[in-house]
Amino acid sequence: MTAEARIVDRPDQRPVTVRTALREGAEFLSRLGVPGARLDAEVLLCRVLGCGRGKLFVAFESILGAEAMKQFHSLLRRRAQREPISYITGHREFWSLDFDVTPQVLVPRPETELLVEVALDILGKRRSSSRILEIGTGSGAIAVTLATQRVEVEIWATDLSAGALEVARHNARRHAVEERIHFLQGDLFDPVRHWGEGFFHLIVSNPPYVPRRELEVLSAEVRNWEPRLALDGGEDGLDFYRRIFFAGDVFLAGGGYVAFEIGADRGAEVLPVLEQQGGYLPGTVYYDYAGRERVVAARKLR
Ligand SMILES: C[S@@+](CC[C@H](N)C(=O)[O-])C[C@H]1O[C@@H](n2cnc3c(N)ncnc32)[C@H](O)[C@@H]1O
Repeated sequence: MTAEARIVDRPDQRPVTVRTALREGAEFLSRLGVPGARLDAEVLLCRVLGCGRGKLFVAFESILGAEAMKQFHSLLRRRAQREPISYITGHREFWSLDFDVTPQVLVPRPETELLVEVALDILGKRRSSSRILEIGTGSGAIAVTLATQRVEVEIWATDLSAGALEVARHNARRHAVEERIHFLQGDLFDPVRHWGEGFFHLIVSNPPYVPRRELEVLSAEVRNWEPRLALDGGEDGLDFYRRIFFAGDVFLAGGGYVAFEIGADRGAEVLPVLEQQGGYLPGTVYYDYAGRERVVAARKLR
């Protein structure tokens, strides 16, 4: 997949219009089985031209310069290797905010917005300011969004990956909330241990939850490009729930909450883990816009 001819079927290399370049780009990706080929070609050409999609359509009949064409083809080749579009553009929208993303972090998913909604709902029940712990912050999408939505919260966001924390810090600065988020590197609760018992009012996490045997059947975009550390949830995908539920209630204030993203429709597996721990009231399962179980939340017993 190195030859230019694989992208352009024309015998000559004369300059072409934006419309033609787009068609050729989309056909190239489509021939290689890339999902969403047309949209991706548009996003990549916008990236090259530094414009929004609306402007692209207005420029349909203009000629694409040789340099722009070269850049476009280089991005198309990356996408043909199934590199996620967000890693190529370096951006992803989450909760209508723009986040920088790199291959150090999981690309924030729209489903995770439900976890933010549930967390905001829980915070809405509290009168005073809240201390939140996010475990596995990745790009910082959850922590940064919560901080932009509630000025009265202070957040401790941990991750095992130093590279991810760098991206998260950058995103916090971009959205002017870095003073209210403490980014800490380490395993689960290790970085916050010295804050002591009962310190947090809410623990949120979208932990790695893919069962190990399923890692190899994920899409090429996820399997080959996204950090394994962000995906691997152990043999049955429940390792992090066991560890976080088991240790978590110690760090929660009386009446505090936990709220977690879960794999689609895995409530029946995650809820018993919560119940076995014994320190929480019965959990609630929340459904995403596709009607699938996506978040579990529960209140600490005492
Ligand atoms: C599924 S990603 C979630 C990222 C981000 N919060 C989001 O929702 O887009 C899980 C994150 O947990 C981090 N992680 C994995 N193992 C960890 C551990 N033992 N302690 C802390 N963080 C961990 C990964 O580096 C990754 O950033």
